[in-house]
Amino acid sequence: MDNPRLDRLHAFPFRRLAALLDGLEPRPGRPVLDMSIGEPRHPPPPLLAETVAAHAGSWNRYPPPGGTAEFRACCCRWLERRNGLPEGTLDPDRHLLPLAGTKEGLYLLAQLVAPTTADGRPARILMPDPLYAVYYGAAVMAGAEPRPLPATAESGFLPDLDALRPELLARTALVYLCSPSNPQGAVADAAYLRRLAARAREFDFILAVDECYAEIYDREPPPGALGATREDDPGFTNLLVFHSLSKRSNAPGLRSGFVAGDPRLLRRFLHLRAYAAAVQPLPLMAAAVALWEDETHVVENRALYRRKFDLAGTALGDRFGFYRPAGGFFLWLDVGDGEAAARRLWTEAALKVLPGSFLSATEGPESPGHRYIRLAMVHDEATIADALERLIGVAEQRDLRP
Ligand SMILES: Cc1ncc(COP(=O)(O)O)c(C=O)c1O
Repeated sequence: MDNPRLDRLHAFPFRRLAALLDGLEPRPGRPVLDMSIGEPRHPPPPLLAETVAAHAGSWNRYPPPGGTAEFRACCCRWLERRNGLPEGTLDPDRHLLPLAGTKEGLYLLAQLVAPTTADGRPARILMPDPLYAVYYGAAVMAGAEPRPLPATAESGFLPDLDALRPELLARTALVYLCSPSNPQGAVADAAYLRRLAARAREFDFILAVDECYAEIYDREPPPGALGATREDDPGFTNLLVFHSLSKRSNAPGLRSGFVAGDPRLLRRFLHLRAYAAAVQPLPLMAAAVALWEDETHVVENRALYRRKFDLAGTALGDRFGFYRPAGGFFLWLDVGDGEAAARRLWTEAALKVLPGSFLSATEGPESPGHRYIRLAMVHDEATIADALERLIGVAEQRDLRP
C-alpha cells in the first residue's frame, strides 16, 4: 500500500547531512557553528508581533481560501512597485493567491499539470540542478518525469536556454526556475526571463519562477518575471511567480508567501488548494500585510548581508572560486569534493556546512553540486568572521581539494 514514488526521494538535505556526520565528533573546545540552513538569524521587525497581537480577535475564524482582499491588494501593489508596472496592472481578485510559505505552493503546483502527455508518456518537469529539493519532490510525487538542467559556472549558474530543444519542450508541462538562485545566487536578467516565458507560451508549459530571494540582493534589484515579460504578454500566459516573507522579512516562522501571474492557472490553483492546503490564519495574514507595506526593515536587512559578503570577500580572496553572488545569502564554494570537505570542517573546526551534492538532482562526481559546499550567511558578523576563519584554517592545514 506504500506509494513507491516516495521511495525515489532522498531524505531532505539536512537529514542527509545528519547522516553524513553521524558518528563523527565535532572538534572539541569550540562552539558548533551551523552554516548549513538558510534560516535568517536577523530578527524580524517588531511590527510582526505587534500586528499579530492587534488581530488576536480573529483567531476563531477560518481564513478564506483565497486569503483576505486586503492581503491580495497589498501584495499586488507591492509587486507592481517592485516590477515597475503601472498601478492597477494586477487585479487582486484574478492575479494573486496567498500561500502558507512558498514551499507548499511550489510543491502543489506540480499537481496542476497532467502527469502524462497525449501519447501516454510521462510529462516532463524541468528544473535547475542544483536546486531547492521541493521542485524534484513535487515532480516525482505528481507522477511526472523530473528533468534536471545543469546550472554550472559555465552557464552562469543558470540553466542554459540553448539546451531547451523543441524535442525536450514538446513533452514539458512545467519548468521551475529560481532567481536569485539557491544555492548559487545567480540572477536571470530580463532577456533570459523573456526568452523562457516566450518558450512557455510557444510550447504551452507553465513557467514557475521562484523569486523568494528577490529582496536579498547586492547591487541591482533582480528583475521580476512579471515586469520583464509584461510588454510581450500582458496576460502573463502560463507564467507564475512565487514570493515569500521568509527571507525578505526574516520571518520563516510566519509561513507566508504568495503566487501571482496567469489568472487562468490561479483559478485552477485556488480550486486545488481548497482541497489540499491550509490557508494562513487571519492574524498572521494581517502581519504579512504590515510587512509587505514596510520597506525600511528590508533595506536594513540587505545592508547587513552586504557587510557579511564584504567580510567574505576580504577573508577568502579568490580561494575556493569565491565570487560575490548577485542575490541570495549563500556562499557557493568549489572545494573539489563537497561531502569530504563537510566532514573535515565538522571534525576539524566544528563547522557545519551543506555539501552541494545534497542540493543536486543528480548523483556522482559529474553532478553539478559535487565539488561545492554551501554556507548560509545568516548569522551575525562576528559569527560569520569566525566561520570564515575556521574554513581557511582547515584549508591551510591541508588543502580542501582532494
Ligand atoms: C529556493 C527556495 N524556494 C522556496 C523556499 C521556501 O521558502 P518558504 O516556504 O519559507 O517561503 C526556500 C526555502 O529555503 C528556498 O530556498
